[in-house]
Amino acid sequence: MLRYLSAGESHGRCLTAIIEGLPAGLPLDLAQIDGELARRQRGYGRGPRMELERDRVQVLAGLRDGKTLGSPLALLIENRDWTNWEKVMDPVSVSAGEVLTNPRPGHADLPGVIKYRQQDVRNILERASARETAMRVAVGAVAKALLAHFQVQVVSHVVAIGDVTAAAVMAPHGDLSLLADESPVRCLDPEAERAMVAAIKAAQKEGDSLGGVFEVIALGVPWGLGSHVHWDRKLDGRLAQAIVSIQGVKGVEFGAGFAGCQLPGSSFHDEIVYDPKRGYTFTSNNAGGIQGGMSTTAPIVIRGAMKPIPTLAKPLQSVDIKTKEPTPASVQRTDSCAVPAASIVAEAAVAWELAVAFLEKFGGDSLAEIKDNYNQYLKNL
Ligand SMILES: Cc1cc2nc3c(=O)[nH]c(=O)nc-3n(C[C@H](O)[C@H](O)[C@H](O)COP(=O)(O)O)c2cc1C
Repeated sequence: MLRYLSAGESHGRCLTAIIEGLPAGLPLDLAQIDGELARRQRGYGRGPRMELERDRVQVLAGLRDGKTLGSPLALLIENRDWTNWEKVMDPVSVSAGEVLTNPRPGHADLPGVIKYRQQDVRNILERASARETAMRVAVGAVAKALLAHFQVQVVSHVVAIGDVTAAAVMAPHGDLSLLADESPVRCLDPEAERAMVAAIKAAQKEGDSLGGVFEVIALGVPWGLGSHVHWDRKLDGRLAQAIVSIQGVKGVEFGAGFAGCQLPGSSFHDEIVYDPKRGYTFTSNNAGGIQGGMSTTAPIVIRGAMKPIPTLAKPLQSVDIKTKEPTPASVQRTDSCAVPAASIVAEAAVAWELAVAFLEKFGGDSLAEIKDNYNQYLKNL
């Protein structure tokens, strides 16, 4: 089974991950992984930290001569900011830094200190922070490298920021992400892009923050990833968990989504057609590429709704956890809008889940064996 664990605090020395269950013989290009890390760091509305960090992945184990060995792959991303935080975050003895006692509304601070019996909010916020998503993107880039051998591509773009919504994308294609990357807010609609930038600027001026909606599309997914037979094997359920696990994401929808649920069944459901060359296809894609928990070869279309960033330059009301007196929430260095970055994290999260489901179906100990299994399956369709 393909799985990974990551570790690392936001201002700690580094982020690390161990991926287990990769086949042997998968070529990995570290520059490609770094390229994905750079995509996560961009986007209008990010905070000053993004200028400090230039994330680069290092491989500590599991790779030889550019190809996986089938053994655990150990990844590391250094936190460049560590040099400024050593005294605050030293693993053995902390010699500087104030104790934070004013939890931020909307963040992990308050439930975290209660659950873990902590007196310093920093002991929670360091891991709750979306800095962790840098490693998710690196791990997702490894998954993308595997999926690319089977012509599976995962792309994304931003659909809405605040109350500005972009025009819908009618025909998803593999270059969609490259185009989105050219936009400061990863939006494909130039008019909406301008309004989104203006909305973020206005929020920043007010010491406020904005959320929004991103869309991830997976292309080239073969028939039958996931399964209808048990709740935890359903592909849509697994993808939904992966998306909602991204910090700040509060909603997810597939295909025609919530709006589609207002349609009668006769307009909603995608009719089935058969073409001797292409096999079974659908006249529309309101299902978003998954039916009965299984992929249908139609593009998998997933949208995630991200709430506004909780840390505000003009802080909201909170309570001091030591004195129980009212106090303003703590003000940390912060993004004012991270929807563009979240769309990249979501791409990685989707790529990872698809790779897990892909190896469940076609898994083997080497890339060559997986290709044999995959080609045999296609032959029998
Ligand atoms: C890429 C990314 C960047 C984020 N940046 C910030 C930030 O700078 N400040 C902040 O308060 N929250 C930020 N968030 C959101 C918080 O991490 C998140 O709201 C918090 O961990 C609480 O989790 P929840 O919103 O899922 O309940 C970011 C989220 C993502 C995905």
